[in-house]
Amino acid sequence: MTTESKSQEEILVEAARAAKENTYSPYSDFPVGAAVLLDDGQIFKGTNIENASYGLTCCAERVALFSARTATDAKVSALAISIGREGSALPKESLVPCGACRQVMSEFLDPETPVYVDGNRTFTMDELLPYSFILVE
Ligand code: THU
Repeated sequence: MTTESKSQEEILVEAARAAKENTYSPYSDFPVGAAVLLDDGQIFKGTNIENASYGLTCCAERVALFSARTATDAKVSALAISIGREGSALPKESLVPCGACRQVMSEFLDPETPVYVDGNRTFTMDELLPYSFILVE
């Protein structure tokens, strides 16, 4: 038996992978999972939810973030994303969150908050979206 404990990254990436088990993606057949870690230790998962009217699809990242925010106003400490089927040989360019999700993520993640992308690397929010739209009056 090992006494080594799992890192925050490993735990969160595993949760993102697990979230794909309930993907609703009959149109693309492309599962995506996301997991949000909050500063109170809670983890919220999300998966992509598609619709016959394709444009109404909601990405996994947004489902996870909206689910977390619905439950609590605790701060987001990290987000993990797992894109595509296990073992698929997607290029690194495909293993990143879409632009719409980046804007939504920037509303809840600080610029330095880590985003762990399964099979790729850890990005900061600021690396993913340096000039996010911010409404300032
Ligand atoms: N998708 C996500 O869930 N997150 C992303 O960042 C990119 C794309 C979903 C939407 C759709 O259900 C499927 O992946 C194929 O585009």
